[in-house]
Amino acid sequence: MYHVTKNSHSAPVLLVVRVDIRRGPGRRHRSDPLKRKTKLTREITRRQNLHGAPTARANATTRLAPPAAFRRVLLTWLPAWLSRMQCAPSADRNKAPIAAVLAKYAPFAGSKPATLLEVASGTGQHAAHLAAEFPHVVWQPTEFAGGSAGPESPAYGDLSPVFASVVAYTSGMENVRPPLALDASAGSWPAPIESAAFDAIFACNILHIAPYAVTEGLLAGAARLLVPGSGVLCVYGPFMVDGEHTSDSNAAFSERLKAQNGAWGVRDATAVAETARAQHGLELVAREEMPANNFMLVFRKAA
Ligand SMILES: C[S@@+](CC[C@H](N)C(=O)[O-])C[C@H]1O[C@@H](n2cnc3c(N)ncnc32)[C@H](O)[C@@H]1O
Repeated sequence: MYHVTKNSHSAPVLLVVRVDIRRGPGRRHRSDPLKRKTKLTREITRRQNLHGAPTARANATTRLAPPAAFRRVLLTWLPAWLSRMQCAPSADRNKAPIAAVLAKYAPFAGSKPATLLEVASGTGQHAAHLAAEFPHVVWQPTEFAGGSAGPESPAYGDLSPVFASVVAYTSGMENVRPPLALDASAGSWPAPIESAAFDAIFACNILHIAPYAVTEGLLAGAARLLVPGSGVLCVYGPFMVDGEHTSDSNAAFSERLKAQNGAWGVRDATAVAETARAQHGLELVAREEMPANNFMLVFRKAA
């Protein structure tokens, strides 16, 4: 806490006082105020004595309010800004392992300038973490207006809170573009995306929590927009392998998803890879095992 006193003969005197917050104000006021001549008031008196009699106004010890602009930032703007940041605990857990795996593959490996399209950026936590890890990659976040909520939800169709979260997380990052709306299941994607070529497309925890049309749309979009011969599609999430769940917990998770929405469920990596190769010219180059029974599938677009 800051206190200031000023008199006509001297420069402002700024004293910084540490308040023991464990004692709390109630406890402090219970003691006899006359006996409570604190170190602060003793110091003020000492300085007033040194510099002569202060004016009545200056005699009063005034709590220093921080400058108005600083106060505005601290009390108004900062909490509002922070509150825009939605938090997905899973994204906090998996962002570092994801970065470690991506770092093995171009365009993440190396420093050649590259562009990336993130499908369903969610809160923006991955965009913020990964764009910082790979500063040579220009990151295009997107989100689906429907989210995972479904048309009956009041939030359906309103992207503003999600976009505000992405923007808050990625504020000041020169390699992150403003987020765009994208329905991955659509046959063609919005103009600024559809007219671009990307070195990478990244999709995290989407395919099991969206209709299969999103898997098909993602593969088709990657085939259209990735740079031939080098562009990669990186898909993270839980997957079956050869039609089998890789853990009991994934099997139970898939059942819960299907109970919530009959079109959802854990996909089979083998089947997805076969569709990607046969129908979209995307070769599975890696199936990395990730923590918590997840995988990172890395597809490369044929030349
Ligand atoms: C579990 S969240 C994952 C969000 C984020 N990628 C993450 O890992 O934190 C599932 C995401 O799938 C997205 N999604 C559902 N249907 C979609 C669609 N048709 N096109 C694009 N994204 C979709 C939802 O909007 C939601 O952001």
